[in-house]
Amino acid sequence: MTNYQIDVQLSKNKKEKPAFDQLSFGTVFTDHMFILDYTEGKGWHDARIVPYQPITLDPAAIIFHYGQTVFEGLKAYVTKEDEIVLFRPDQNMKRLNRSNSRLCMPELDEDLAIAGLKKLISIDKEWVPNVAGTSLYIRPFVIATEPYLGVAPSKKYRFMIILSPVGAYYKEGINPVKIAVEQDYVRAVAGGTGNAKTAGNYAGALKAQEAADKEGYAQVLWLDGKEKKYIEEVGSMNVFFKINGEVVTPALNGSILEGITRKSVIELLNHWNIPVVEKKISMEDIFRAYNDGLLEEAFGTGTAAVISPIGELFWQGEKLVINNGETGALAKRIYDSLTGIQTGVAEDPFGWRM
Ligand code: COI
Repeated sequence: MTNYQIDVQLSKNKKEKPAFDQLSFGTVFTDHMFILDYTEGKGWHDARIVPYQPITLDPAAIIFHYGQTVFEGLKAYVTKEDEIVLFRPDQNMKRLNRSNSRLCMPELDEDLAIAGLKKLISIDKEWVPNVAGTSLYIRPFVIATEPYLGVAPSKKYRFMIILSPVGAYYKEGINPVKIAVEQDYVRAVAGGTGNAKTAGNYAGALKAQEAADKEGYAQVLWLDGKEKKYIEEVGSMNVFFKINGEVVTPALNGSILEGITRKSVIELLNHWNIPVVEKKISMEDIFRAYNDGLLEEAFGTGTAAVISPIGELFWQGEKLVINNGETGALAKRIYDSLTGIQTGVAEDPFGWRM
């Protein structure tokens, strides 16, 4: 690997660390952050690690007006042997570049991004929590910084990585959540930005989430934007169903985010010889399977929560209670295996740990 020049300015005022057994999600940040700037004609430059602090931007910066921005999410864990491990960071940096490309933003050197991340974590290594169910959540992101009110790709960008020790994403943890099938709002359409990890997708989803929350549901199940018939995602996660022994998940169609946990779950199921199929799945298909007593499990997959079982689906006035509202055996097995690989407890036959 190339030896990259990354300047380091260490913090003189180290922050107090939170109690690692009482962490919530995404509220505290470590002592340092990574920065890399981009200027048209010059490319990416000035890789550096500096104390975590607010940044100053021109109020006309394109990010504030037209949302030209992309982000990633991944995690680091500390093993029993006190080694810090990352889970498939190469996949995140590849996806970051796919998102960059979709938003007309310049691609990054993925190896430099990983080298910067490793150096940042080695400086803030005492922030990697060592309590079961916790991790260091890593948020790489790129923002368009050129001050310009015309609608055009920015000529200046900033790539940053910030770190946050986290506990469970959902207060329910691995316990099942209740989900309302969304009938009014849509998250994305093919040809849009649904398969890019960009802020607008998340801002646009808030309204549906807010309405579901008022009705006592943790999240919504998103249907396709054209016919509102086919299942796409759940909340900000990919979704899987176990029907009569077979696992199914919506096929990637341009509007679904290519989750790295999604990909890992499919690879894990293949490894276990459990049938898994990527295909178009309608809500009618799920309802039929439910009525026939064949809908065994449903769960979301994502970096933040890893696996989030669905205990109830509310659809057109019907409450579909799945697996008696309890965590299914397969969801639990996948959760244990993935987190086992991620935290270094289990063998890693796939070479996913770095
Ligand atoms: C995930 O990791 O599942 C997400 O996409 C959630 C993140 C936006 C906090």
